[in-house]
Amino acid sequence: MDIIEAVETRKSIRKFKSDDVDLNQIKRIIGISINSPSGGNAQNWFTYIIKNKDTLNMMRAAVESVYKKITGKDAPGVYAFFNEAPVVLAVVQKPYIGSLDSILENVDKNRNYDRKFIVNPGLQGVASFITHILLLVHNEGLGACWMTGPLIAKPEIENIIGVKNPDNLVALIPIGKPVERQSKSSRNDVSTAAKIIE
Ligand SMILES: Cc1cc2nc3c(=O)[nH]c(=O)nc-3n(C[C@H](O)[C@H](O)[C@H](O)COP(=O)(O)O)c2cc1C
Repeated sequence: MDIIEAVETRKSIRKFKSDDVDLNQIKRIIGISINSPSGGNAQNWFTYIIKNKDTLNMMRAAVESVYKKITGKDAPGVYAFFNEAPVVLAVVQKPYIGSLDSILENVDKNRNYDRKFIVNPGLQGVASFITHILLLVHNEGLGACWMTGPLIAKPEIENIIGVKNPDNLVALIPIGKPVERQSKSSRNDVSTAAKIIE
């Protein structure tokens, strides 16, 4: 698959066949994805590759319980299907400290806040890593879904898998043989995504 085909045909997959997934294949995908760019080449990502069904079921139960506590309702599919995949990646953001961060904090707290939490180069690097993973998963004929919805139960899931401060869980990615989706999610016109300044 060439890169244009991979980008144009990737879809979020939320239903998986029961077939197992080879963990060496997942490790290889992650091994390639570390070529992703990151601020200051910090490579501030880490991935838990979770296969254990008890662990995945506990994670789902935590999401359902928090969702019910907040809304009084059962969690909808988009929050709580990840444990139906044969493997789930839990992607963690490790601390990223830019070279000017400590100086900025003293000189201009607002500017520092903007850069650290709005521009957030640390999170952008991890997002790039995840994008690489999704495209490579698709290239291997597997399906995946980038998920932040379940992180309403972020502290509970971090506890279950052992993510410790100052690391932060930022996404779950269930992966498996896809039950193919017929339709592709629509996209806005490219004019809503770009403007030329000549
Ligand atoms: C940061 C981020 C968070 C997402 N969280 C969820 C999620 O919690 N649950 C879900 O089902 N899909 C989630 N998605 C997938 C989006 O819904 C999906 O990418 C979008 O609808 C476009 O569809 P496509 O990926 O099939 O092109 C997320 C995607 C991103 C980039």
